[in-house]
Amino acid sequence: MALLELKSLNKSYEIEKNIFSRNRFKLKAVDDVSFTIKQGKTFGLVGESGCGKSTLAKLIVKLINPDAGKIFFDRQDITQQTEREFRPLRQKIQIVFQDPYSSLSPRLKVGQIISEPLEAFSLRPRIVEERIAELIVQMGLGKEYLNRLPYELSGGERQRVGIARALATYPKLVILDEAVSSLDLSTQAQILNLLLELQNRYKLSYLFIAHNLNAVEFIADELAVMYYGQIVETGVTTRVYEKPAHPYTRMLLASRLSFKRKLLNGGKTQLAREGNAVSDFKILGCKFFKYCPNSKQKCRQIKPQLEEVAPGHFASCFYPG
Ligand SMILES: Nc1ncnc2c1ncn2[C@@H]1O[C@H](COP(=O)(O)OP(=O)(O)OP(=O)(O)O)[C@@H](O)[C@H]1O
Ligand SMILES: [Mg+2]
Repeated sequence: MALLELKSLNKSYEIEKNIFSRNRFKLKAVDDVSFTIKQGKTFGLVGESGCGKSTLAKLIVKLINPDAGKIFFDRQDITQQTEREFRPLRQKIQIVFQDPYSSLSPRLKVGQIISEPLEAFSLRPRIVEERIAELIVQMGLGKEYLNRLPYELSGGERQRVGIARALATYPKLVILDEAVSSLDLSTQAQILNLLLELQNRYKLSYLFIAHNLNAVEFIADELAVMYYGQIVETGVTTRVYEKPAHPYTRMLLASRLSFKRKLLNGGKTQLAREGNAVSDFKILGCKFFKYCPNSKQKCRQIKPQLEEVAPGHFASCFYPG
């Protein structure tokens, strides 16, 4: 059953071309994005820096409003809901950010950090105490951690605290925006396993946003590949990793192998969006046209739509692989 449904979401920003000119152009940070996250499942979102992943996360938690499109959560249309209407649902959608340093208040003790989201419920202090003690233990940390300050924790421990805080209100959907990206590989693996354990226990759905394609492969049931604000490929993770249909997905998958080569190459990459200061609105066809090894004239002129290349596997390419 669908827990979250995004239908043709759009969000643009007006950007000044440079500090010396008033010339502005519009950037489609999220460009006609639709997908569904099922109850109890993990949906991965991958794509290079600046492709619109965090903007999408902010739209879902209603930190920002879309220009167009709809967001359904638990079958309710939350798109136009006022802050007051959305308040009961806000507890059901939580977000964990990449950098636990900036997302955890440095002066609060771990116990206060985890219990903060519970304040809105006016619960008895004993109930709150029991809940945070239960959570900290579920995170694999001892109760003594409740009296510590964030700077007294390691990166992995801080991220466990961030997850505990997100789970305090029994959410249904947790958005993990690069939540493991800053951790070393073995700590990442521990946190990923913890997330799976918590998912089983609480029947959670995750939106797992990451650069790390290995982490996504490990945790996500389905995924979407984002490029330049658009979803260019989506499907069951195992299938997409085995038979990527979009040339951009193939490049992303190849790049996880050739990262070392890229470092030696001075960090030059074909995937970069940076410096592409043209209005998105001027691009008629495929946004990947310039970088695609298979592009033809048609790709420049006509915008490819997501088409089913195999059951449940979609790609927006006229010449899928
Ligand atoms: N408030 C804003 N005003 C103007 N432009 C913005 C704003 N927020 C985001 N953008 C732009 O929208 C694009 C998408 O940004 P976003 O943060 O969603 O990318 P991302 O995929 O999360 O990148 P990363 O992987 O680096 O976190 C970027 O080009 C960014 O500069
Ligand atoms: Mg981001």
